[in-house]
Amino acid sequence: MAIERIIVRSGRPLEGTVSVAGAKNSVLKLMAATLLAEGSYRLDNVPRIVDVDLMAELLRAVGCAVEWDQVRSSLLHIDVPAEISPVAPYDIVERFRASVVVLGPMLARCGEAKVALPGGDDFGPRPIDMHVQGLVELGATVDVVHGYVEASAAELLGGRVVLEFPSVGATENLLMAAVAAKGATVIDNAAREPEISDLCEFLSRMGASIGGVGSSTLSVEGSGSASPLHPADHAVVPDRIVAATHLAALGVASGEVFVAGARHDHMELLCQKLTEMGMVITPDDGGIRAIAPRRLDSVDCSTLPYPGVATDHLPFLVAMMATAAGVGIVTENLFPGRFRYVDELRRMGADIRTDSHHAVVRGVERLSGAPVRAHDIRAGAALAVAGLGAEGTTVVSEAHHVARGYEDLAGDLASLGADVRAE
Ligand code: EPU
Repeated sequence: MAIERIIVRSGRPLEGTVSVAGAKNSVLKLMAATLLAEGSYRLDNVPRIVDVDLMAELLRAVGCAVEWDQVRSSLLHIDVPAEISPVAPYDIVERFRASVVVLGPMLARCGEAKVALPGGDDFGPRPIDMHVQGLVELGATVDVVHGYVEASAAELLGGRVVLEFPSVGATENLLMAAVAAKGATVIDNAAREPEISDLCEFLSRMGASIGGVGSSTLSVEGSGSASPLHPADHAVVPDRIVAATHLAALGVASGEVFVAGARHDHMELLCQKLTEMGMVITPDDGGIRAIAPRRLDSVDCSTLPYPGVATDHLPFLVAMMATAAGVGIVTENLFPGRFRYVDELRRMGADIRTDSHHAVVRGVERLSGAPVRAHDIRAGAALAVAGLGAEGTTVVSEAHHVARGYEDLAGDLASLGADVRAE
């Protein structure tokens, strides 16, 4: 169902169990990785979200067949033909930035790739210079012509790439190119997010040889071409950002919730912050059990690449701090322009001052429900969460952003007893 707005009213404490599906930021890359080898793949634990539909559309545009399983709703079948088109057209790429990760696998498979340059985001410019630089170091020629990144390489050659910053997307594009390069590649200062490890695991199942998984130095023994790689089945790692959303909802509304599927080991620093704020967080059989008091305490925090507090977790921490006791100082180090949700929280009565990539959050006793706008996926979800602690009704418009990364956020929160609906 296409959703336009999420309507939230504060209510009673949350109670019950909610499950977390597979991670958006993993499955989109796994889908891209299938382009490396002809054959049939089965991806399980796939979230039914708009970005997956868009990546499916992109895969179809280059020649693949992508179908949901008739029986198991989280199972996705992908059939990759012997020949794929090495072109990712603008009309699809401009709708979701993650599509740029087809660049590496397309180049590795076809010796060429033409991928429309993704545009900026609602939280600022999102350059791909590190993706391009890394591919050049593996022997590719890369040009930007008429809004397209055009890459070609008769043969990719393994080498050492030191990333200037542990970029998630650049690490993924380079991994997917390196597995088919001739000889060994070392990616230094690689991103270490759990979704990168999930991609490494999937590529290894496809026959790739990758060492250092989970560390910032990945070593890949390239197979010389994509031909030795083969299809594989895989279950997507659970979404640690969706899990954080549920924990934040609990933090705002109070109560006791079990987040089934949530991996405590993938969100340790966040859990540490939530504990400092007064929540009781316990890793439990296949999930996280959490209890939240009536009012939380504020904390200070800064975002950093994994294992730091994720930039995608910050809007939720700020939403919680808006009604927590005390003052918290937060710093956004990854996307300095990512504070637009703060203006919306202010419309709800939050006392937050921003200065460049810092924000000072002075907790107020209660927010007041207001019409607010979702500028991106996490901003929209965080505003819905904040609405749980606001007097009256909060209406989050442009909620189609939220549907890009959440199967049914309103339904999940409602199942815990919150007064939330989407329309
Ligand atoms: N950067 C460059 N040049 C590059 C690549 C990145 O300057 O070539 C900069 C970016 O501008 C940013 C920083 O490096 O300041 C980190 O960007 P990164 O490449 O790590 O992010 P990404 O791959 O574009 C993914 C997630 C984001 C998440 C970030 C950080 C996906 C599809 N997206 O983006 O998730 O915030 O990593 O962890 O995996 C979301 O899910 O809502 C979302 C935005």
